[in-house]
Amino acid sequence: MAKTAVVTGASSGIGAATARRLAAEGFDVVAAARRRERLDALAAEVPGIRPAMLDVTSQESVDAFAAELERCDVLVNNAGGALGLEPVASSRVDDWQRMYDVNVLGSLRMTRALLPKLIASGDGVLVMLTSVAGLVSYEGGGGYCAAKHAQTSMTETLRLELCGEPVRVVEIAPGMVQTEEFSLTRFRGDAEKAAKVYEGVPGPLTADDVADVISFAVTRPAHVNIDRLVIRPRAQAAQHKVHRV
Ligand SMILES: NC(=O)c1ccc[n+]([C@@H]2O[C@H](COP(=O)([O-])OP(=O)(O)OC[C@H]3O[C@@H](n4cnc5c(N)ncnc54)[C@H](OP(=O)(O)O)[C@@H]3O)[C@@H](O)[C@H]2O)c1
Repeated sequence: MAKTAVVTGASSGIGAATARRLAAEGFDVVAAARRRERLDALAAEVPGIRPAMLDVTSQESVDAFAAELERCDVLVNNAGGALGLEPVASSRVDDWQRMYDVNVLGSLRMTRALLPKLIASGDGVLVMLTSVAGLVSYEGGGGYCAAKHAQTSMTETLRLELCGEPVRVVEIAPGMVQTEEFSLTRFRGDAEKAAKVYEGVPGPLTADDVADVISFAVTRPAHVNIDRLVIRPRAQAAQHKVHRV
C-alpha cells in the first residue's frame, strides 16, 4: 500500500513542486490549500495527487481535513509566507498576526491534528518548512523572522518531545527561492517590487530545488533523522551577502 504524504500550501511554489516530487517517488499525495482550481489542475496533471481544501488558519477546516484522512505517513507543513518589509517601528500589527497565524499556528494546528496518524504509521515524517529567516534576522524582516524563529523553535521542541516515538522531525530552511507568489504576496501584489528581489541574482533557488531536498529527507531509512537542512543559492552567502550581476 502506498504511503500517504500531506503537503500544505500545495497550490503554488514549493508546496506544488513537493507534491509533484513526492508523487513521482510513489507517495499517495494529498495536496492541500485554499484555492481549489489550482489544486484540481495539479491533480489532473499528475497521477498520484489528490486535491483537498484546507485553510490552516481555521481549526474547523483543519479538523474536517483530518477527519477525511485515512492515514498519514508524511506531513509537510509548507503553507506560509511573508507580509510586508517595513521596519519594526512602522510595521503593521495585523501583518504580524497573519504571519504568526499561518506559519506558526497553522503548523501547530496541522501537527496536533495529524500527529496520531503519523505515530500510527510506524514511521512518520514531519517536515517543517522554515527559512533562513528562522535562523538569522534581517532589517525589514521583523514579523516574518519572528514567525519563522517561532516555527524553528517549535520544530526543535517537537523533536525532543517525540524522541522515542516512530516519528522523524525534519526542518528545511531555504534561503532565496524564486517562486511565482512568495514576493508578490509579501509586496501585496506589487509585481515590480517582487521582481526586484531576484533582479540580477544568477540562479536563485527554484521550488524544485527545495522539493528535491525535502524528498531526500523523507526517503532516508527510518532510523535516519535529517534534523535541519539549510539550502541557499550559491549567490547568497548570507541574508546580506547576495551576488548580483
Ligand atoms: N520563496 C522563498 O524565498 C522562501 C524561502 C524560505 C522559506 N519559504 C517558505 O516556504 C513556504 C512556501 O513558500 P513559497 O515560496 O512556495 O510561497 P507561495 O508560492 O506564496 O505559496 C504559499 C502557499 O501557501 C498556501 N497558503 C497560504 N495561506 C494558507 C492557508 N491559510 N491555508 C492553507 N494554505 C495556505 C498558498 O495557497 P492558497 O493561497 O491556495 O491557500 C500557497 O500554496 C512558506 O512557508 C515560506 O515561508 C519560502
